[in-house]
Amino acid sequence: MQQSVQRVFFQLSILMCLFFFACSDKGVELEAPLPSSAPNVEVSFSKNVLSVFQTYGCTGCHGGTNGLQLNTVQGILTGGFHGPAVIPFKADSSIVIRKILPNPPFGDRMPQGGSFVTDQDVKVLKDWINLGAKDN
Ligand code: HEC
Repeated sequence: MQQSVQRVFFQLSILMCLFFFACSDKGVELEAPLPSSAPNVEVSFSKNVLSVFQTYGCTGCHGGTNGLQLNTVQGILTGGFHGPAVIPFKADSSIVIRKILPNPPFGDRMPQGGSFVTDQDVKVLKDWINLGAKDN
């Protein structure tokens, strides 16, 4: 009798262990890394965005004293012939994004004469815009 009670206890405690294990597994799942499409909240103009513009030669053509200036946030927000190059929080409507993707709304796909911006670098620009296009 004593032994069978012990056995039931033993079995119950194994079940409890399994139960907690299953639950803690769910907790781990919730902490899984965010999908790569989530914006990188660390993105900064001076550290990330500017270097993308420099890598593709954008600032070489758009960094003078007239027309679009991509080397400062002020210049980007002022924009060029077609108005502001960036609409804060709205990457998909921002001219600077639409000009680097296939089928730009006017003129050539940027960078003019250069190799196109990689998806990874497009994401840097989009994240920065969607987080408010801050001068950070
Ligand atoms: C070799 C010079 C050159 C390079 C490099 C270049 N652009 Fe341009 N860009 C131009 C010229 C010329 C125009 C005007 C004609 C047109 O819209 O296609 C223009 C127009 C634009 C416009 C539209 C401005 C407006 O309001 O009309 C944007 C935005 C732009 N470029 C962004 C970029 C970005 C971002 C890069 C880098 C990925 C880049 N450009 C690289 C020459 C260049």
